[in-house]
Order: sequence, then C-alpha cells, then structure tokens
Amino acid sequence: MKVGVLGSGVVGKVLSRSLAGRKHDVMIGTRSPKGPELEAWLAKEGHGVRAGTFAEAAEHGELVVLATNGGATLAALDLAGVGHFEGKLVIDATNPLDFSAGFPPSLLFGFTDSLGERVQRKLPNAKVVKCFNTVPNSLMVDPTLTNGTPELIVCGDDAGAKGKVGELVRSLGWSGVIDIGGIREARWQEALVPLWVRVAGARQNFNVTFTVAEGSAIPR
Ligand SMILES: NC(=O)c1ccc[n+]([C@@H]2O[C@H](COP(=O)([O-])OP(=O)(O)OC[C@H]3O[C@@H](n4cnc5c(N)ncnc54)[C@H](OP(=O)(O)O)[C@@H]3O)[C@@H](O)[C@H]2O)c1
Repeated sequence: MKVGVLGSGVVGKVLSRSLAGRKHDVMIGTRSPKGPELEAWLAKEGHGVRAGTFAEAAEHGELVVLATNGGATLAALDLAGVGHFEGKLVIDATNPLDFSAGFPPSLLFGFTDSLGERVQRKLPNAKVVKCFNTVPNSLMVDPTLTNGTPELIVCGDDAGAKGKVGELVRSLGWSGVIDIGGIREARWQEALVPLWVRVAGARQNFNVTFTVAEGSAIPR
C-alpha cells in the first residue's frame, strides 16, 4: 500500500520505518524534507522511506497517517492540502495535549469536541480512524508486554475503514482493535492520554499501555 505519514517526530519515524519494513511504499511528510536530521535518519534507520513535503506525502498515500503535533495538526492539513485526502483512509494518531501549565499535560479541548472530530470535519470526504494515540511510540509496533498483547482502541465513522485499520495493526503486532464507536468517541479516546501520562509517571515507566481485564459475573 502507498502510505503517507505526516509528521517527522518520533511517532512519524516509528510508523514510517515499520510500515516500510512491512513492504509498504512510505513517504514521510515534513516542512523540512531536506533537513539534515531527517536525512541522517533516512540513511541510518529509515530504509525504504522517502521524504517529502506534507502535500507530497498526503498526495502519495492511499493511506495517510497523521503524526503531527496536536496543536499544529489542522495547520499541517492546510499545508498538506485538504484535496489530497478525498476518499482516503486517514489514521489520526494525534493528541491535543496542552503543556501550557507544565507537565503533566491537560487537553486543549475536550468533553464536547476532539481533535479527531476536528480532523474529520476538515476532511469530510476522508475516512478518519483514530488509532495509535493511546500508546507510547516505544510500544506502537511489535509491543513486548508483561501480560500479553493487548488490542488498540479505535473509533471512526466508517466501518470498512476501521476493518482495514484492524488488519494493519495486527500486521504491526497487536492482537486487534477495540472499536468504541464513531469519531465522536475520539473525545474520550483522547481524554485517556493525560491519564496515561499520570499512570506512566506513577509507575516511573513510560513504556506502559492500558489493557482491558475481563471478568465474569459471580452469583452472590
Ligand atoms: N510521542 C509519543 O509517544 C506519542 C504517542 C501517541 C501519540 N502521540 C501523538 O502523536 C503526534 C506526534 O508526536 P511526536 O512526539 O512524534 O511529535 P511532536 O513533537 O508532537 O510533533 C512533531 C510533528 O509536528 C509537526 N509540527 C509542529 N509544529 C508544526 C506547525 N506549526 N505546523 C505544521 N506542523 C508542525 C512537525 O513538523 P516538521 O516535521 O515540519 O517539524 C513534526 O512533524 C502528537 O500529536 C502526539 O500527541 C505521541
């Protein structure tokens, strides 16, 4: 599959490298495709990944992954050109984290809106699936965990798109997805992340993720 990854931070790099390693045709998008740091990474670790502008990467992808800073994601979509997303599957891995009061972060907005919804509203003809935002980059691919391989939480309005994302995440070492509903649920999927930061801080380990422990009702 042709994949455009918007964002050359750690998340963009991890997902680009891993998808290229699974034989996808990956272009990573950034404002500085010729930047020395990215060129060094491409040569050393990003084997098979090409770099382009946000617009070139969005045009390239049948699948476009959003891995941009949460506060800048809508601006990055403007730079990418919203016309490049028509009818495409878009995985939104971003979080609208607010560090203005320091660490740990809050959210820039929530409860009644989310970045996932804002992305879907900006790209009305794209099939936006929120995914990967709830796990640290260290665990996004082939997660090694003490208690088995969990599922990834997803939401989005298009069932077929979520099915494709389920296949993709299984190819990246997850056992599947927990589909919590339409893109409106992104407000709760994003709200998990400030909690995750606090749990990770309490554990003094940022290589942690949430899993669902299921029991059965015991007659009393
Ligand atoms: N770090 C994690 O473990 C993790 C885990 C789950 C989800 N996330 C989410 O994934 C996203 C990426 O996180 P990250 O840690 O890789 O990097 P980040 O520092 O949050 O974002 C880096 C990316 O944002 C772009 N960017 C920053 N300011 C911009 C602006 N004014 N206009 C356009 N683009 C701008 C940068 O573009 P250039 O390439 O042009 O510099 C770069 O590609 C975030 O939304 C984050 O919340 C992160």
